[in-house]
Amino acid sequence: MRFDILTLFPDFFPPFLEEGVLGRAVKKGILNVRLTDIRSFADGRHKVTDDRPYGGGNGMVMKPGPIYQALKSIERTGDDVITILLTPQGRKFNQAVAWDLAEKSHIILICGRYEGVDERIISGHVDLELSIGDYVLSGGETAAMVVVDAVGRLVPGVLGGEKSNTEDSFEDGLLEHPHFTRPRNFMGQDVPEILLSGDHERIRIWRRKESLKRTLEKRPDLLKDRDLGEEDRRLLKEIEKLAEKG
Ligand code: ADE
Repeated sequence: MRFDILTLFPDFFPPFLEEGVLGRAVKKGILNVRLTDIRSFADGRHKVTDDRPYGGGNGMVMKPGPIYQALKSIERTGDDVITILLTPQGRKFNQAVAWDLAEKSHIILICGRYEGVDERIISGHVDLELSIGDYVLSGGETAAMVVVDAVGRLVPGVLGGEKSNTEDSFEDGLLEHPHFTRPRNFMGQDVPEILLSGDHERIRIWRRKESLKRTLEKRPDLLKDRDLGEEDRRLLKEIEKLAEKG
């Protein structure tokens, strides 16, 4: 999969693209991430990329010209290309959106700065506005990293045999069960006995129940309006009964 990131701060990205799972995928060529410095498409000696807003007001607006020229310089790869602007006004990014984007052949990410980008870029050249949450960042760069990470790891071959992403939190709409590794006792706390039993079916059910319990405790919103299977409904009843007992 190919990503193009249009930014005023290309230097933010290399360390992020060189380490860990993503770093490996980039080295192997499974992910091809290119950085484009919007400033290099600005005119004049000072390469100005922002200007005061028409109508007055605080803050500066990113000029449309340099972003447009930067977009034009990008050769489109494959038949499923999407241009995304990272902005707090966008659609909320989540795992389902990440899966949709993982189907694309080429994702172009525009990182906004200042008060925003000129509206004519959004109306004429952006397919999707995306927000990573209801808070304001100083720019779209960190949001672009979030998108590259969450989408990139869904691309076949990126995780290798290391971990199946189908077991992750959110993949089936629930939070993941707790994890334990050695030592068996850590600072007086034992690993739950059942995980040492070797009984795979009982472990599966225990994990499912823990997963439901966590979701109920920490993110009850994820269980709302959700069709649960028979086993999940039974486990939830058990959890509720235990909670009543206190
Ligand atoms: N730029 C500034 N804040 C943002 C957010 N929350 N999501 C995406 N891009 C942003």
